Amino acid sequence: MATQPDSNSDRIVGDRIGATADGAADPQPHLVYDDLRQWLDEARRLGEVKQVSGLSWQEDIGMVSGVAMHDDGAPCFVFDDVPGTIAGSRVLVNFFGGKRKNMTLGFPTGLSKLELSEGFRTSFMGPMTRIPPKYVNDGPIFENVMTGDDIDVTRFPAPKWHAGDGGRYIGTGSFNVTRDPDEGWINCGTYRVMIHDAKTAGFYISPGKHGRQMRDKYQARGERMPVAVVCGGDPMTFLMASSEVPYGVSEYEVVGGIRGKPVEVVNGPITGLPIPANAEIVIEGFVEPGNERVEGPFAEWTGYYASDLRPEPVLDIKAIYYRNDPILLGCVPQRPPDEICRYRAVVRSGLLRENIQKAGVPGITAAWAHEVGNARLLLAVAVHQRYPGHAKQAGHIAAMCHVGAYCGRYVIVVDDDVDVSNLEELVWALLTRSDPATSIDIIRNAWSTPLDPRIEPERKAAGDLTNSRAVIDACRPWHWRDQFPKVSTPSPELEHVAFEVDRSGAVTVHAKQLGQSFGLPLAAALQRIDEFKAPDRARLLRELPDYYSVPGCHAATFAHIVDGLVRHQYNQAHAPAPAKSRKAKR
Ligand SMILES: Cc1cc2nc3c(=O)[nH]c(=O)nc-3n(C[C@H](O)[C@H](O)[C@H](O)COP(=O)(O)O)c2cc1C
Repeated sequence: MATQPDSNSDRIVGDRIGATADGAADPQPHLVYDDLRQWLDEARRLGEVKQVSGLSWQEDIGMVSGVAMHDDGAPCFVFDDVPGTIAGSRVLVNFFGGKRKNMTLGFPTGLSKLELSEGFRTSFMGPMTRIPPKYVNDGPIFENVMTGDDIDVTRFPAPKWHAGDGGRYIGTGSFNVTRDPDEGWINCGTYRVMIHDAKTAGFYISPGKHGRQMRDKYQARGERMPVAVVCGGDPMTFLMASSEVPYGVSEYEVVGGIRGKPVEVVNGPITGLPIPANAEIVIEGFVEPGNERVEGPFAEWTGYYASDLRPEPVLDIKAIYYRNDPILLGCVPQRPPDEICRYRAVVRSGLLRENIQKAGVPGITAAWAHEVGNARLLLAVAVHQRYPGHAKQAGHIAAMCHVGAYCGRYVIVVDDDVDVSNLEELVWALLTRSDPATSIDIIRNAWSTPLDPRIEPERKAAGDLTNSRAVIDACRPWHWRDQFPKVSTPSPELEHVAFEVDRSGAVTVHAKQLGQSFGLPLAAALQRIDEFKAPDRARLLRELPDYYSVPGCHAATFAHIVDGLVRHQYNQAHAPAPAKSRKAKR
């Protein structure tokens, strides 16, 4: 059971710690890469990159990616020597897995997914510091240029990712840069981009997205829309481009805030749009009003081909820029849970909690946008109830805030003794604390998309792209909460004080509370922990049992203890030492 602080200003253990690839602790979270190549170097240093040569874009790369992206433990793959493509060009997939997840977000490797999300929220998404991009005159992106007759987008190693796809998709781990024709602000948004032929591509944007609102404005004015598609930007810019950054705020500025320094951009020679000076591949062109061509089908994040084939705007390509040995970043939807779900859950859960709190709801202790619903279809919120109707308020805001509104389905609100990131624990609370007849509210006509597999064909054809939501109050009912049966597992309080670590490093485990007996080995384990240069939970879990037998200790309990020890190590290293013996917090 895990609870998180109840205020924007509170910070969890570890959130002040940045990470380098070798795991060395640093006082602030920070990114150790500026572009995709530097990111790749860091991932290599972590030992999590596998290079594979000679696979085809027609089938092989998609098949390997499909397997790898379902597995958090799988490496990042770099496919090179793809037959029939530009010499030296590469495709990189599965960037968000293993230890590189934390490195990508600027945190050390020992944090759980909930801690990582919380660290990202409190350090970056909450403050949402904005630093405008810096315009520079040149950059590696112009190492190679295709214009005029030379333009041939089919020469890049864009795979056909799934057997049923209608074509090759160069845009998956990409983002489109556009300018609002009325307000002038720059948006970066991730939308799938399909190659039609050497000089044209098609991209799909769901109604309501910022990029779509801009597109609709150009269309209504009868003006062509300038577009720059960045295929192979740095992973953080991609993550922000595929996240719910507020309307009117440029993702470049948010990434600048996260980095603590401006993103360097160059003016696109054709469109004048800002493009990252160190991107790998950038396609510039225009969408002429009314110019449409059939796009799709493409395997979508729901695990279906729900939007099938539709006419979508065509991008007339006027120039392509690319670095030597360019790297195409691929982030390909598979049936959830997959890689996309992993990063979306971590980033979007932080944004979700932030959205609810900024709407003025107090007492939110955790939020999780579940992987199985691709961080959209199932949202869970933990609340420390303070007044009647409080849980319902949190649930409805979660369902309708910027992060939750698009293509949601179920929102479950639970008490703060439930770990919302643990699907089984969440469903246990749902099953035992909700009453179907009275706990579920239905919201109708909510914002959805052609990608929603549950909208009837007739309604889709008629342009009705709305769906319904269930907001489920699975908290102990407010008015008789004190009489609700007591849970039979140890309370969070007991779990939190299940062991104590004093300043000499001695550990006392409260065997009575856990019904276990493992005081002495853990005391020795703490000595052992000091030998680890980096707080590394996975390594501790792997290696400690080899050194110390822990009789009768259930694996999950042991993992819990190790988590506590790792946190204790963070505290010792980075927090002011307390005057006397202290209790390690969970
Ligand atoms: C790999 C990936 C592919 C995506 N493809 C699309 C897409 O084809 N169309 C779309 O509307 N949204 C797509 N999204 C979701 C958008 O990127 C996301 O909703 C983003 O916040 C939209 O930004 P905007 O509101 O600034 O336009 C995709 C997200 C990811 C991670």
